[in-house]
Amino acid sequence: MESISRGLEDVNIKWTRLTTIDGEKGILWYAGYRIEDIINAKAKAEEIQYLFLYGNLPNRSQLDDFEKKVQQGYKIPDYSIKAITALPRTSDAVALQMNAMATFAATEKFAWNKATDRDTAARIIGQMASVTAVAIRHAMGKEPRLLEPSSSLAESFLKAVFDRSPNEKEIEAMNDALILYLDHEVPASTTAGLVVVSTLSDMYSGIVGALAALKGPLHGGAEEAAAMQFQEIGDPSKVDSWFQENIKSGKKRLMGFGHRVYKTYDPRAKIFKRLAQELNLKGAPKTLYEIAERLEELGIKELGAKGIYPNTDFYSGIVYMGLGFPLQNNIYTALFALSRVTGWMAHFIEYVEEQHRLIRPRAVYVGPSERPFVPLDKR
Ligand code: CMC
Repeated sequence: MESISRGLEDVNIKWTRLTTIDGEKGILWYAGYRIEDIINAKAKAEEIQYLFLYGNLPNRSQLDDFEKKVQQGYKIPDYSIKAITALPRTSDAVALQMNAMATFAATEKFAWNKATDRDTAARIIGQMASVTAVAIRHAMGKEPRLLEPSSSLAESFLKAVFDRSPNEKEIEAMNDALILYLDHEVPASTTAGLVVVSTLSDMYSGIVGALAALKGPLHGGAEEAAAMQFQEIGDPSKVDSWFQENIKSGKKRLMGFGHRVYKTYDPRAKIFKRLAQELNLKGAPKTLYEIAERLEELGIKELGAKGIYPNTDFYSGIVYMGLGFPLQNNIYTALFALSRVTGWMAHFIEYVEEQHRLIRPRAVYVGPSERPFVPLDKR
């Protein structure tokens, strides 16, 4: 039988100038910049979004101009808001993002164009931020509220969700989360979106496809699942017995552990761990962090030899909880999507503008050989 590449492991589907990963050493570069250097330099998320879309870091006037384009997306139409609020408050937040982004696919006249793709993408970042704020508020039982321009996307977003001015520490954590989840080469969601835009469908439809793939528990959904698992354990004294019963026995996978590319500690997980420690843990009980730390210790002892280490989703949920986002309705995955939408669009633009070809793989047929068709009443 002809061989297949299960899970498309190690298949290169495009070239990129955006992100590269050394999975053995645990290094992540955004267009040549190490993720730790970007975070330590206190870069603004908008600077890195610009880097992904335009290829270089912006100077101050380029950044101002870019931020205005993002802010133009904050005001979304009523029908996009209704695509969220018409659904039950118990709805999955990522599915609500899909619904609202689909309203733009239905109504905006989008055509791939080198002269306008990047500016459109900047506006979509703003639209996605308002969509996400409305979706999260809907789950929290609050009326819709859109983002308004302020000093940063992180600040405007937290204000819109929580109806209060966030402090510096909170803005920094939200800003860093926007950067840490911004791109990661071609995981399942980016690949799903690339399949969509390879048909020359529009940018919004590509995002809807990517959101659908992100939603699953083996991808973006792992973030919420990891935090749920800490909550299920409930007390640091119960970690060892829970681990024995669920992970050592092979009954469950340890969520927030393991990665197709990293065979060591994910560098983003180290940064999220520090943020989880530093945040004033408003919404997150301190015990949750202690549970995670002990679970990490046991997990590495048991699975480390197989190259299975904490990934970015292990501590990020505690950071989101610390910011006050409730652990429900897949909200944490919706926050992941808000960051990742920039990476998705940057990959779509690279692919459509410079290396476009319809993605159409093959399947190896293993079914019956030719046989006579028997009509229904003769079967
Ligand atoms: N806990 C326990 N065992 C694991 C885990 C885990 N988290 N991850 C992998 N394994 C084992 C798996 O059981 C299998 O063992 P065996 O060979 O004995 O059957 C082996 O490792 C290989 O697993 P695989 O599923 O074939 O490997 P993969 O490259 O497809 O795994 C993964 C990648 C992310 C799907 C997997 O590690 C996993 O399920 N992790 C838990 C979910 C998670 O945290 N996902 C977030 C990924 S990172 C952020 C993102 O992309 O969204």
